[in-house]
Amino acid sequence: MIRIEKIMSLLETEYVGREIHYFQKLSSTNTVAKEQAEKGAKEGTTIVAEVQTQGRGRLSRPWVSPKGGVWLSIILRPKVKAEDALKITLTTAVAVAKTLRSLYGWKAEIKWPNDVLIRKKKVCGILTEASLNGKTVNFLVVGIGLNANFALKSLSENLQKTATTLKEVLKKNVDIEKLICTLLKEFEDCYKLFKEGKFVKLLSEWCQMAGFLGKKVEITSFMERWVGKAVDIDENGALIVELENGERKKVLSGDVTIQGA
Ligand code: BTN
Repeated sequence: MIRIEKIMSLLETEYVGREIHYFQKLSSTNTVAKEQAEKGAKEGTTIVAEVQTQGRGRLSRPWVSPKGGVWLSIILRPKVKAEDALKITLTTAVAVAKTLRSLYGWKAEIKWPNDVLIRKKKVCGILTEASLNGKTVNFLVVGIGLNANFALKSLSENLQKTATTLKEVLKKNVDIEKLICTLLKEFEDCYKLFKEGKFVKLLSEWCQMAGFLGKKVEITSFMERWVGKAVDIDENGALIVELENGERKKVLSGDVTIQGA
């Protein structure tokens, strides 16, 4: 069980997670966060669930969310343009990777745009969803799914090949409340930098933790597929891939597979 009183006593944030809505079971924390945001919930309000019955991943994929995971969504109200939503995903990935590095000393790596990996296996995914007002953001919901205190066998055989959990790596359960508090604090620190217009600083941290830069990758985006070298991330968070013919391609959405990994 996640103990909210313990989170409240350990939490060091100014506003992220200061209001927490806790559920033993719900459909998806992102869905509930969007409903609460529509009703006016303030910036930083966080939805936490023990179990999600309809957890959602990127590209409309299901996200398996058994008991023991960290399934949470944070409501944000930055005054930014619609295209800045991608920057929030990257900002969040930096916060997650820093959390895992500081708590467990692991060299957590980031894979564009939203995966955090340990020992080349995915341990966390991020789903940012936006409510728009024309070309500006009305609110954002950033959903974080972190495979924490459950065994790998709780996931499908297919996922077991590419995913991992903290329990699997550490061979024991982690202190889930401490994990959530550290994550919320790292997130708030990174988000404050984003709001101060210092995304370039976050991007440089992101690049330092992006193990795949310089490697040969395969990109699938909608119905297209490219193979090339992942060379950089531009100032908006788009991935720059150098194709085999030397052409540079800017990728805003899609899946990256690191070749030979
Ligand atoms: C991905 O890698 O495809 C993104 C996965 C995001 C999962 C999290 S779990 C909490 C929040 N609620 C959801 O339904 N999805 C996100």
